[in-house]
Amino acid sequence: MLTISHYTKTYPGGKTAVEDLSLHVAPGEICGFIGHNGAGKTTTLRAVAGILSFTQGRICIGGRDIQKDPVGAKAMTAFLPDNPDIYEFLRGIEYLNLIADLYEISASDRQKRIGLYGDAFGLTGELGSAIASYSHGMKQKLALISALIRRPKLLVLDEPFVGLDPAASHLLKGYLQEICDEGGAVFFSTHVLEVAEKLCHTIAIIQQGRLIRQGPTQEVVGDSSLEDVFLGLTERRDVS
Ligand SMILES: Nc1ncnc2c1ncn2[C@@H]1O[C@H](COP(=O)(O)OP(=O)(O)OP(=O)(O)O)[C@@H](O)[C@H]1O
Ligand SMILES: [Mg+2]
Repeated sequence: MLTISHYTKTYPGGKTAVEDLSLHVAPGEICGFIGHNGAGKTTTLRAVAGILSFTQGRICIGGRDIQKDPVGAKAMTAFLPDNPDIYEFLRGIEYLNLIADLYEISASDRQKRIGLYGDAFGLTGELGSAIASYSHGMKQKLALISALIRRPKLLVLDEPFVGLDPAASHLLKGYLQEICDEGGAVFFSTHVLEVAEKLCHTIAIIQQGRLIRQGPTQEVVGDSSLEDVFLGLTERRDVS
């Protein structure tokens, strides 16, 4: 579903944030992307979402090249940034309708899905209010709902569990699993290693812009814990 080949990003000013990264996320797979602060996770996720240009390499979603066919690739992808920066002057329902219009979701589907996810996240009663009046977590839930109503083939999330209450986190885990059960794929960054270990089928570990480990979670973790493996791997590299 997602193939990243030799992705390299050098920011204007000369900082190479990610170098020669290759990664594959298959349909039905949840892939956890972990790494220290500044390792290059957001830089990679934003390129996959098609909102950050890059220096070298190729990114394909469902076989569509994000640079050559950005509209085709983006039509299959929903991206949830780490900071839910949504148009504050809109009401929640107006934002969801805007997204539904952009992605051509029929009136009956949008009504059903907004009702379903709005009720599940306990946001239905607030959808008539201005987004400016929402708490951080409520904005995050609204952004999540806007991604879920699209039924994306690939869902890309940057630190989705930060700021969500336990009930919403639990719900989100179920929805990520549902996307995979329906043949989609999920690629997300997280610092919550317990969640990654339990939820992800595969793990990719990035350090200082380079992928240092990737594979099925069971293989990566072995008899240890993801935390121990991660700390061991990154410590060794820091020393060398
Ligand atoms: N706009 C930018 N211009 C220049 N350098 C940048 C820019 N954005 C990020 N970087 C640099 O790229 C590197 C990777 O940053 P990135 O945001 O991808 O890290 P991250 O893994 O998402 O970290 P965190 O866990 O803190 O979110 C860092 O060294 C950062 O300073
Ligand atoms: Mg980041």
